Amino acid sequence: MPSVIEARGLTKTFGRLGAVNGVSFAVDAGECYGFLGPNGAGKTTTVKMIHCSAPITSGDLSVFGMGVRDAPRAIKRRIGVCQQEDNLDPDFSVRKNLTVFARYFGIPAVQAADRARELLEFMGLWERRDARIRELSGGLKKRLAIARALVNDPDLLILDEPTTGLDPQSRHQVWDRVRTLRRQGKTILLTTHYMDEAQSLCDRLVIMDHGRILVEGAPSDLVRSRVGREVVEVYGFPPDLPEYARAQGWTFEADTHRLWIHTDSGEAVFAAIARLYPAERCTVRMAGLEDLFLKLTGRELRE
Ligand SMILES: Nc1ncnc2c1ncn2[C@@H]1O[C@H](COP(=O)(O)OP(=O)(O)OP(=O)(O)O)[C@@H](O)[C@H]1O
Ligand SMILES: [Mg+2]
Repeated sequence: MPSVIEARGLTKTFGRLGAVNGVSFAVDAGECYGFLGPNGAGKTTTVKMIHCSAPITSGDLSVFGMGVRDAPRAIKRRIGVCQQEDNLDPDFSVRKNLTVFARYFGIPAVQAADRARELLEFMGLWERRDARIRELSGGLKKRLAIARALVNDPDLLILDEPTTGLDPQSRHQVWDRVRTLRRQGKTILLTTHYMDEAQSLCDRLVIMDHGRILVEGAPSDLVRSRVGREVVEVYGFPPDLPEYARAQGWTFEADTHRLWIHTDSGEAVFAAIARLYPAERCTVRMAGLEDLFLKLTGRELRE
């Protein structure tokens, strides 16, 4: 199956800053592909090059088999984008934000009106169709931005942090809609800081840091192979526990209050610790994407 997006050695610099430093990846048709990474990792910059809003500095990038330098207009016609920052038109109502956007794609007025209604219903916004943008909560704006991204019935939907700032109800609604769209055969590119979101929506994902891809794969496979099956979490650990853990050959991470041991045999590690060390709390849980993320990208703040 041909790739919908193919990047080879893709690079973007801003003056002396390398925002994206030679990344290569391929997104298949019909998959939901995730970009994870700390603030400033280069996710939005990568996404912007894909939707032809930022020129590439070097490397190759093709979308639907067309080079972004050669055919930006043809590519844009088949893409829907929900940007990280809100760029709805504050002068228009909810509904008009969609119909005006439809005009940019040459969609006739009658068809645009039908499409707007369908999308507003799909995103649970029809009741608010006549509201002004400034009257909308952050969550409603995000849902409207997603609706707008679907106006041209895109083959590729790009969602840059679609659920940041949303309440649990709205997040679940967005997830449900993303699943529906994926089932309809759309290819979806998603950036997120929510590990549960990435785990449950993405067929494959990359974790980026400092403009580079650190790993790529299916979320469960990555966690299984890079972290292990389980994590033993020790809260309020005694000062000599790290040394003991090291002597046991355990892989672990620690901050001031907690220590995490990555393992395939959580119960055995738990028993060993419980035998030797008093801890305020010690628990065994399934390893997850957040464990992998922190393992690969560290615990230092970025920006
Ligand atoms: N237009 C620009 N001019 C100069 N530097 C920029 C520009 N856009 C992004 N950068 C820098 O490029 C780097 C990558 O930024 P980018 O927005 O791609 O990160 P991100 O992974 O999307 O982060 P976040 O999770 O915070 O959204 C950052 O260091 C950022 O400051
Ligand atoms: Mg970003």
